[in-house]
Amino acid sequence: MIRVCFVCLGNICRSPQAEGIFRRMVTEAGLQDVVHVDSAGTSAYHEGELADPRTRAASRRHGLELTSRSRPFTARDLDEFDYVLAMDSSVLGALQRMARTPAQRERLHLLLELDPTSATHEVPDPYSSGPDGFELVYQLCRSGCEHLLERVKRDLADRETSKRR
Ligand code: 4NP
Repeated sequence: MIRVCFVCLGNICRSPQAEGIFRRMVTEAGLQDVVHVDSAGTSAYHEGELADPRTRAASRRHGLELTSRSRPFTARDLDEFDYVLAMDSSVLGALQRMARTPAQRERLHLLLELDPTSATHEVPDPYSSGPDGFELVYQLCRSGCEHLLERVKRDLADRETSKRR
């Protein structure tokens, strides 16, 4: 099992979008039994809430229904997940301050760092933006998730190879 958690500030705009997009890709690849997908926020401001209506409108335009509820990221999550993917460098900084061991720090990445073609490493906070900001989040998350899926597939193949040795 490979466990992936997307993290933003509120867990109502960017990380639930990435979670929904990635879960759909994982299911389409037939990997839903071996890849676990989740999301969380570095704050508890919106704990228990569905994703922002503007986020859900953006995903719905792409045929995706988001149902996750906001939860705060905890120190325990640093041991539970193989990939902890921050949406921007401020979120990454908060996670790095939470991490206590080199193994925990190694699991932290910026989502868009996995995309060598991306012009930016930041998925911008759309909370105070118009609909374009939410569409941009969708597009950036989709592109990051495509590269993440390739990475996860390589990890699964490597695990199979080492099991056979
Ligand atoms: P997110 O967006 O981190 O992508 O979920 C935000 C949601 C809420 C707030 C800030 C960013 N807020 O300040 O309430």
